[in-house]
Amino acid sequence: MPQYLLKCEDVHKSFGITKALDGVDFCVERGKIHGLIGENGSGKSTLANIIGRIYAADKGKFTLRGETWTPKSPQEAFSDGVSIIVQETGTILSITVAENLFLGRYEEFSDGFIVNAGKMEKAADQILSSIGVTSIYGSQMTARLNMQQRKIVEIAKAVSNDPDLLIADETSNILSEEGREILFRLFDKQIKNNKSVVTITHNIEEAMELCDTLTILRDGKVTATLNKEEFDENRIKSLMIGREIKDSFYRTDNDEYGEEVVLRMVDATSLRDVTRVSLELHKGEILGIGGLAESGMHTLGKMLFGAERLACGKVECNGKTVDSPETAVALGIAYISKDRDVESLAASTNVSANIAITGTDVNVISKFIYSVKKEKKYVLDQIERLKIKVNSRFDKVSSLSGGNKQKVAFAKWFARDCQIYIMDCPTRGIDIGVKQEVYRMMYQLKQQGKSIVLIGEEMAELIGMSDRIIILKEGRISREFRRSEGVTEDKLIHSMF
Ligand SMILES: Nc1ncnc2c1ncn2[C@@H]1O[C@H](COP(=O)(O)OP(=O)(O)OP(=O)(O)O)[C@@H](O)[C@H]1O
Ligand SMILES: [Mg+2]
Repeated sequence: MPQYLLKCEDVHKSFGITKALDGVDFCVERGKIHGLIGENGSGKSTLANIIGRIYAADKGKFTLRGETWTPKSPQEAFSDGVSIIVQETGTILSITVAENLFLGRYEEFSDGFIVNAGKMEKAADQILSSIGVTSIYGSQMTARLNMQQRKIVEIAKAVSNDPDLLIADETSNILSEEGREILFRLFDKQIKNNKSVVTITHNIEEAMELCDTLTILRDGKVTATLNKEEFDENRIKSLMIGREIKDSFYRTDNDEYGEEVVLRMVDATSLRDVTRVSLELHKGEILGIGGLAESGMHTLGKMLFGAERLACGKVECNGKTVDSPETAVALGIAYISKDRDVESLAASTNVSANIAITGTDVNVISKFIYSVKKEKKYVLDQIERLKIKVNSRFDKVSSLSGGNKQKVAFAKWFARDCQIYIMDCPTRGIDIGVKQEVYRMMYQLKQQGKSIVLIGEEMAELIGMSDRIIILKEGRISREFRRSEGVTEDKLIHSMF
């Protein structure tokens, strides 16, 4: 008989007219890693957030350790041993790492009157080092950390209570190799102690390798729960999206690109982690940039867009220096950031405003008059093309699922018709069905003579889409590969270390 840690039965949840969960049964066994997968907007985060009691279910029965479980707040779920690492940013930037780690638990460090910050920071350092992190300190301001480091703080917080159930909502896709190792080590520890993990991911390979059981959600309903011996990649994919999907969805051609250089970086050094990099992007070229998370590749993307100060060197487009995002946009350069919540989207405004913002001058205004009709068509076209799941174009971006936010970040630039696209991890959090569409759009752009810089941590994506791949290592170019040489993942990885 399986030993269940948590049972969720007939769970329902609606947001306005959206039925996010519609009668979901979900049971987590002890000593098992249980994966939750499904398309963007299928209800994964909603279910995870209900278990972590960030949301209350409209209806549903919950049993934890064999007893009826009705926590009233996230803090109560946490003290009952249920921890969640949420999909979106879960830290507050304006406070210290220690304050984030112990949010809601400050009284543990108080003498009755004031909180002993030093004591709390020390305790934070201990938790961080217990999971193998020695480069982040309790006393640091959270705003100074990068996205991956902030995620690590959230992980530390989630395990600080030694939970019975650890829920990780698309955590691994934000982390570098090193961060992933930390996370997976914690998963292992849970299992060894006969505790449980629920993990949400769009990486099917990772899910198949890591998980003992997989539950597949589709439109708020469970389509299947499979045990390891039943895992089959194609079956899982079709259970997710309701249609067959071909194995390979990258481009298959070896088409050349033009000779004309459209964007040039000359001997550029950033104030952070990029040193003396020179590169050229050609007309109709997809140039892949790979490396470890700390290799400087994300900074390089910002430098190419004029969003990062250079200590020396320059970036040129059409003979003009790119020294600010404004110049970049005027020169027809688009930039899709990895950190969509902070850098790409205005989350508190609606989908329409986010999509229209970059294209207003070219697509919406005609003869100096703002055309509401044009804006509507232009926004609705993008929503349809990328299958952005909304009830109306006036939905707030903050109400969308993670992957649908990423699609808005994309649509915003695709709509504008730029000449150069700098994409930093463009398919992060996007489900396989839409990924295929994004890759198709990228190839289409290439065929139209546009150029793309594709920065990515997913080797298969870089190999599958790029004409050339440049690997960065410790801020410098370590190697360059051409599509025609038949690049392999092994070769790429070898050049990163
Ligand atoms: N706070 C909210 N307000 C309004 N609608 C919401 C809210 N949270 C989720 N939804 C809607 O509920 C549905 C399910 O969203 P959910 O975030 O659970 O999807 P998901 O499976 O996690 O997707 P993704 O892979 O993109 O993260 C979506 O249609 C989403 O727009
Ligand atoms: Mg989600």
